[in-house]
Amino acid sequence: MALIDLNGISFAYPNGNLVLKGLSLRLEEGDKIGLLGENGAGKTTLLHIILGLLKPAKGEITVFGKRCETEQDFKKIRGAIGLLFQDSDDQLFCPTVLEDVAFGPLNMGMKRHEATDRAERTLDKLGIFHLRNRVPYQLSGGEKRLASMATILSMRPKILLLDEPTNGLDEKTGKRLISVLQNYPVRAWIMISQIQSTIEAMSNKYCQMNGGRIDLV
Ligand SMILES: Nc1ncnc2c1ncn2[C@@H]1O[C@H](COP(=O)(O)OP(=O)(O)OP(=O)(O)O)[C@@H](O)[C@H]1O
Ligand SMILES: [Mg+2]
Repeated sequence: MALIDLNGISFAYPNGNLVLKGLSLRLEEGDKIGLLGENGAGKTTLLHIILGLLKPAKGEITVFGKRCETEQDFKKIRGAIGLLFQDSDDQLFCPTVLEDVAFGPLNMGMKRHEATDRAERTLDKLGIFHLRNRVPYQLSGGEKRLASMATILSMRPKILLLDEPTNGLDEKTGKRLISVLQNYPVRAWIMISQIQSTIEAMSNKYCQMNGGRIDLV
């Protein structure tokens, strides 16, 4: 059984921009898919479709063997699938980094002290414990990237959808993030990147988006 199965997905933005044209993709256990494609190819759009943040005009989305159509269906899968947004400012909205990172665990029903403990451990793992009391929007671009990653990993998702995870990170920090992700017990991921070293280190399969469809490379 595929963890995520997209079949014949078509999607246009309200302005009529047809971005996905009958796209199909399967994410299987252990897959670390590097999703490649030019700027504007529709990579980010595709990740948002998988989580139901955008609704396709046509096609089927099946996650963990269940068809996802309604908001209710997508709500059930969002806890298990962590999406790192391309723009960190879309991910961070609390008054402090710690609150942002504890937000997911709290939302999943954890008690406050447990959620705080989980958040602090995650920040420590990513090497940004010292940022815990900072205001997210005052962080540097790279610090925001790591804080965003922490908000996702603190929920211990089974699948990761990573939209340019090492963007804005210096070489050393990028390597540290890759190493954290490689040691993270995840069932599969889809990762978008334009950085060759990230693609090579983080992928065991490659998919190329072109003309609103996907070719396995
Ligand atoms: N809200 C929107 N309304 C209309 N068009 C949009 C909207 N968001 C994105 N697009 C367009 O849809 C196309 C796909 O955008 P998307 O962000 O998915 O591309 P991408 O492959 O992630 O690109 P990049 O590598 O630059 O991040 C682009 O042509 C973009 O201009
Ligand atoms: Mg994008």
